[in-house]
Amino acid sequence: MNKLITGLFVFFGPMILFAQKTIPIYKDKNVPIEKRIDDLLKRMTLEEKMLQTNQWTYGKNANENNIESIQKGVRAEIGSLIYRSINPVYRNQIMRKAMEESRLGIPILMGFDVIHGYRTVYPIPLAQACSWNTDLVTKACAVAAKESRLSGVDWTFSPMVDVARDPRWGRVAEGYGEDSYANAVFCVASVKGYQGKKLSDPFSIAACLKHYVGYSLSEGGRDYHSSDVSPQTLWETFMPPFQAGVKAGAATLMSGFNDMSGVPASANHYTLTEVLKERWKHDGFVVSDWGSVENLIAQGLAKDRKEAGLKSFLAGVEMDMVDNVYVDFLPQLVKEKKIPVEKIDDAVRRILRLKFKLGLFDNPYVQELPEKERYYQPESMAVAQQLAEESMVLLKNNNQVLPLSNDIRQIALIGPMVKDSVNMMGSWEGQGIASVVETIMEGFEKEFSGKTTLNYAKGCGFEGTDESGFGEAVQTAQKSDVVIVCLGEMKKWSGENASRSTIGLPAIQHRLLAELKKTGKKIILVLSNGRPIELGDMESLSDAIVEIWQPGIAGGTPLAGIISGRLNPSGKLAITFPLVTGQIPIYYNMRQSARPKIGGYQDISNEPKYWFGHGLSYTSFSYGNVKLSSDKLSKKSKLIAQVEVTNTGNRTGKETVFWYVSDPVASISRPMKELKYFEKSELKAGEKKVFKFEIDPERDLSFPDSNGMKRLENGDFYLTINHQRVKFELIN
Ligand code: GLC
Repeated sequence: MNKLITGLFVFFGPMILFAQKTIPIYKDKNVPIEKRIDDLLKRMTLEEKMLQTNQWTYGKNANENNIESIQKGVRAEIGSLIYRSINPVYRNQIMRKAMEESRLGIPILMGFDVIHGYRTVYPIPLAQACSWNTDLVTKACAVAAKESRLSGVDWTFSPMVDVARDPRWGRVAEGYGEDSYANAVFCVASVKGYQGKKLSDPFSIAACLKHYVGYSLSEGGRDYHSSDVSPQTLWETFMPPFQAGVKAGAATLMSGFNDMSGVPASANHYTLTEVLKERWKHDGFVVSDWGSVENLIAQGLAKDRKEAGLKSFLAGVEMDMVDNVYVDFLPQLVKEKKIPVEKIDDAVRRILRLKFKLGLFDNPYVQELPEKERYYQPESMAVAQQLAEESMVLLKNNNQVLPLSNDIRQIALIGPMVKDSVNMMGSWEGQGIASVVETIMEGFEKEFSGKTTLNYAKGCGFEGTDESGFGEAVQTAQKSDVVIVCLGEMKKWSGENASRSTIGLPAIQHRLLAELKKTGKKIILVLSNGRPIELGDMESLSDAIVEIWQPGIAGGTPLAGIISGRLNPSGKLAITFPLVTGQIPIYYNMRQSARPKIGGYQDISNEPKYWFGHGLSYTSFSYGNVKLSSDKLSKKSKLIAQVEVTNTGNRTGKETVFWYVSDPVASISRPMKELKYFEKSELKAGEKKVFKFEIDPERDLSFPDSNGMKRLENGDFYLTINHQRVKFELIN
């Protein structure tokens, strides 16, 4: 036997060694990534490099019947494709074309908008922020990543972390609210979920922080418009979530449609190169937003597509999304020596680096599992239900009308949202399908079956003037013990290119509510919307209000559980509800007015309807006195603040403790208070828990100047928790 083995080795050995030797370095998985990139770059022609800097998409007819023609249409050498199919087989067919038909066999990066779930649709990100449960958000993103990878997607254009302070702008739905720190924390939670421990793990996908930067200040809330962002606001408010995401290892960023004080985000050398690459040392790449390179013409920064390509590429956008400007003009610009080849190589290096990190060169194909094994797994559905539950906010509960008392025998469910499944998914439903969404009606049927009669009437549509359903709605209410009115927004009223001049709901919804109020029954208003709503008379007409946002695939049961009392609501607003549209912008951490007692509006209060952080519970929590480890701290020391919270009610509840810092006198005027830490925890009835916040001066007391340089200044600071405000001093 040994002779045989020896003989075989002697005979085949040299061939194996020779074969091993001839595998190109870039294909050798035992070689470090940077060496593999060096080798591959040397082999690439200029055209092959150009193709890596472009992202294509299917045409309008991106459906399964056309997949064959799409596959034929996609060039084997392209850098990235927006992959819209859910079928991994097609992805593998397109990938096989890249790996086997192209000269070098460079895998294609398949991207898609997985914003709040892939097939298992979760609550919109604004709702997720109201859960204040970062672990749950990480889990949701991890499930979304697994479903995405199993469907052929390697890269999501998420998380969106545009700090939003103008709810007329429809994209407030997609981010994590009005607070910069909260957006930073949820950004990191999302990146962790999407990217897992390593990008090469089988169910990790690359994250993409967007829209870099300042997009949410689109003037007047009008999408795609100019954003007048002062350098100070840029650094205080908009940069921190991106900086946190880059520090957490986010693989990519996406620029935006906005110009920032005259410099478009897709051609802003300061943000894209000086900060992102040179200061933050980001080693990934930036993709433009959809056609935002070409948009530089409309924005008045480029006279034609060639100049747009030049300015965007030199500013620091490495990949061009779908407008083909780079592939059309960069070769010419290199030949004209307007773009140095080194810059091309750096861009291509960054793109290849992600493909190597994702393991696409060594494992370019995904498992081809049947659909039922790819989606709606038990853990996905459990996360969807819990996230929906914890993101719902009890805004009002007069005389504890909720939870419903056990003697209720007839519940009226009225309104356009009761049996709706489409709008429950929200504006970026990914590959979600409405037919599997659990409606409010279905949730109530499960919750109350056998105990209570449910009487349904639609009452009216989301908009329009047709009141023909009012009569039936009133009769339905009259024969019931309590009336639950489910109103809100259509999903197309928020999200991209969905700015509205008013954040109020259409008049017909107000009229329906007013008619139902006349019955004298208790009214519970359930709101489903993608932005804060100007409630107007809806608030006074309602005895209780539950904000469910757009809860995704599994919102019906959590809502029914909250109404029945099986569940105790724990959501708190991550964005302020203005009193009226005219009050916008209004957010909790504004700067102090020069004349706080007399400034503001003549015709309305300066208070919003509900502040950031508002949210009621079915139990009550009392806060002991805040204790500080010292009332002084030096810049190199830490200060421990703690507060004992007691659940003084008669049932278990989850409480979120928010720790705010104020710096009333500084070299640059500071916001009245700023969230610096939060912690959510469950307490049983009567249970006490000590919540702690360790103040690190460098992290929690410093602030940026208009070029992002940190300032840490001695003096008095205040810590605000719940309704307490305690003072401490920072000394040298
Ligand atoms: C859109 C959006 C962006 C999205 C991209 C790809 O225009 O602005 O957020 O990721 O195009 O769909």
